[in-house]
Amino acid sequence: MKTAIYYASSTGNTEEVAEKISKTLGGIDLFDISQNGFKDIEKYDKLIFGTSTWGDGDLQDDWEELWDKFCELDFANKTLAFFGLGDGDSYADTFCNAMATIYGQACGKGTKTIGETSKEDYTFDESEAVKNGKFIGLALDEDNEYEKTDKRIQTWCESIKNDIL
Ligand SMILES: Cc1cc2nc3c(=O)[nH]c(=O)nc-3n(C[C@H](O)[C@H](O)[C@H](O)COP(=O)(O)O)c2cc1C
Repeated sequence: MKTAIYYASSTGNTEEVAEKISKTLGGIDLFDISQNGFKDIEKYDKLIFGTSTWGDGDLQDDWEELWDKFCELDFANKTLAFFGLGDGDSYADTFCNAMATIYGQACGKGTKTIGETSKEDYTFDESEAVKNGKFIGLALDEDNEYEKTDKRIQTWCESIKNDIL
């Protein structure tokens, strides 16, 4: 069973994180959706989705552009994990909301979701990516908490590796 990351990035932060996750886990295929769309996605049983949040809690532009295609995909019987980049200071009320938008669309009948994380040790006010007191995936803030990113990636990869590889 193979694993892939599908991500998009406007200024390179999400891209850098996607590459780090791929390297840390090893054996993961990486797709920038702005180049490849959702090419070959049906071949993977295990998927990681990555996005930054733009506007006022909106999807990143490439995700926005491909959203109708994403909504046509069926993830039944797949294992899914999510990561999101945001800015918990300047956009404290919509921190990493786009990750929640993707989660909300992808998760449903027959999907297995992994990789929720604690919201302790983050600075923000509101996030749709918090459900039942936890982030639904890995939240990262390269604008304000970049020094915590590598450790957060490391810990997250460790927590999902048995399910995602
Ligand atoms: C105009 C603008 C709007 C933004 N809106 C949000 C937002 O609503 N919520 C959030 O958490 N981050 C927001 N951000 C922060 C970005 O998501 C963050 O800088 C991210 O690391 C960018 O990643 P990328 O380079 O992969 O696109 C915004 C940034 C800009 C410049």
